Amino acid sequence: MCPSPPPPSLASWVNRCPLTAWGYELWRARALSLLSGRSFPLEEELALMCRALAPVEGGVFLDLGASTGLYARALLRAGAARVYALDYAPTMLRMAVRKARRHPGLVPLLAYAEAIPLPDAVLDGVAVGGTWNEFSHPERVVQELYRVLRPGGRLWVMFAHRTESPLQGLLERAGLRFPTLWGLRALLEGEGFGVEGWREASVGFVVGTKVARREGQHADDKS
Ligand SMILES: C[S@@+](CC[C@H](N)C(=O)[O-])C[C@H]1O[C@@H](n2cnc3c(N)ncnc32)[C@H](O)[C@@H]1O
Repeated sequence: MCPSPPPPSLASWVNRCPLTAWGYELWRARALSLLSGRSFPLEEELALMCRALAPVEGGVFLDLGASTGLYARALLRAGAARVYALDYAPTMLRMAVRKARRHPGLVPLLAYAEAIPLPDAVLDGVAVGGTWNEFSHPERVVQELYRVLRPGGRLWVMFAHRTESPLQGLLERAGLRFPTLWGLRALLEGEGFGVEGWREASVGFVVGTKVARREGQHADDKS
């Protein structure tokens, strides 16, 4: 059970609608071109993600907030042995399973990102595409990511960066959140990730590595 499930919001209602799952990848194919203001084909994003999580071949990964499993399928095509596709929306996961029928390595997980139902240190990498904008408890998600990744495990995050756009104000009322690159880096580094990141207009990218803590050292022990 999730200790604190995200509060109900317009965004969580939309995510659970069957129609959203049907149309999702149409929007997704154009999303980064719209956010970055340049031609940013999905293939380029998927190649960046796979490179950030390399080596992919034979590895075990998590697509966190997978929706229809776009990232999960790209990782399986690149040779991953298994990809857990986690989402709280059953309609999204059903579509992910259907779209991945040629990829037996996809394992759907109906769960919350704040309480990932996997043991400690079992993952080689985690991909988070867009979902960061929907987390109401990002600190809790970061702790979970640190727990499920093995030392040296890799993290990829793509998110919509905070801008001055009035549209973001409206979307915040629907339950979305818009972190800055600096804020997201600080959150991840505070938990023990080595992080690099960059922006292309309003789209942010973060690549992290789980750095093993010294014996007895806690996340809030900065010494
Ligand atoms: C913007 S979509 C991103 C989908 C996909 N990662 C991509 O790159 O296209 C966000 C997805 O994350 C799911 N989601 C949002 N918050 C979540 C949470 N706290 N736990 C699990 N799933 C969540 C939603 O149901 C939705 O399917």
